[in-house]
Amino acid sequence: MPRAIVTGAFSNIGSAVAAQFLLRGFDLHTLTNRRTPDGVDSITSAPLHFDPEHLACELDDADVMVSTYWVRLPHGGTTFDTAVQNLETLIGVAARAGVKRFVHVSVSNASLDSKLGYYHGKARVDEMVRASGMSYAIVRPTLVVGPYDVLTGNIVWFLRHFPIFPVPGGGAGRISPITLRDTGRVIVDAALASDDLDIDAAGPESYTFREYVELLARACGVRRLIFGAPAWLALAGIRLVELFVRDVILTEEELLGLQQDLLLTHKPPTGTESVETWLMDNAGLLGRSYVNDIHRHFGAGATTPIRSPTAHTTPHSCGNGHL
Ligand SMILES: NC(=O)c1ccc[n+]([C@@H]2O[C@H](COP(=O)([O-])OP(=O)(O)OC[C@H]3O[C@@H](n4cnc5c(N)ncnc54)[C@H](OP(=O)(O)O)[C@@H]3O)[C@@H](O)[C@H]2O)c1
Repeated sequence: MPRAIVTGAFSNIGSAVAAQFLLRGFDLHTLTNRRTPDGVDSITSAPLHFDPEHLACELDDADVMVSTYWVRLPHGGTTFDTAVQNLETLIGVAARAGVKRFVHVSVSNASLDSKLGYYHGKARVDEMVRASGMSYAIVRPTLVVGPYDVLTGNIVWFLRHFPIFPVPGGGAGRISPITLRDTGRVIVDAALASDDLDIDAAGPESYTFREYVELLARACGVRRLIFGAPAWLALAGIRLVELFVRDVILTEEELLGLQQDLLLTHKPPTGTESVETWLMDNAGLLGRSYVNDIHRHFGAGATTPIRSPTAHTTPHSCGNGHL
């Protein structure tokens, strides 16, 4: 049975990738700092940390590796540079361990010219993957919409709880979102291809950010006053709310990314599912409670599974004591 390794099988995109590998009959191992969800016994797991010896052991017999690892924002001493360095270690170990194909989940419109740390850092890693000597795919999602998407979920939470929704900067920036399931399929299709690939993962529809908020309001059945507000004013309001929810809801860089259309692709869509249909069918799952992303990734929530890709998984030891 071919063996795949994916980071974050109990998190957001990694869980959709894991589900696709299982569907296609792979022996699946995940690197994650989250506990294995109850009842999961068809995925082995080991901690995601960037000690080269540990990684060399974990990656030893992999046919294919999908790396979803990244940090959404700098926090508590972890920066985008930290993520770049960690991925440099991972890619180097994978190449030396003889991983046959390496898939890097990047982001749409990553660029070395970008002044935004997220997009610049991703482009640095893209370069490392190209230079690694491994057969590779670079997959660039736009905005991934599913039950665990923090941005969409928290917009819906705001819409459910407040009568007005000021859209930062007017919301004219465009996005071409993709469903989580399509994203998993596009990534695993790329993992199983043989050519070196650099592709976007984007759905068939596009919206301005304001249209997207209006769609979310329709999907969850609420009528709200949705209006454009100057970026500085909306960010000031968001900073106030952050004091109460103790989270970082939207960074200035993330807003600039939206305004610069960085979550939009100009290539033909690789996703086939309608995000609008998914939202209409599943809005009931979204925004029921506020999702604190800092707690989820940097706090006590960083070891709790976000999602189970399957009902079956087993612990795994690779002989160095790491489970
Ligand atoms: N979600 C989107 O809309 C979107 C759009 C474009 C690109 N992407 C890219 O797609 C990839 C996966 O995104 P995702 O939404 O699935 O992200 P995610 O759930 O936050 O996690 C992805 C992986 O990164 C690890 N990770 C995240 N924050 C971390 C931290 N602070 N410290 C240590 N490890 C951390 C996770 O570890 P655990 O397994 O321990 O949780 C997981 O393995 C990322 O590279 C992201 O940049 C996402």
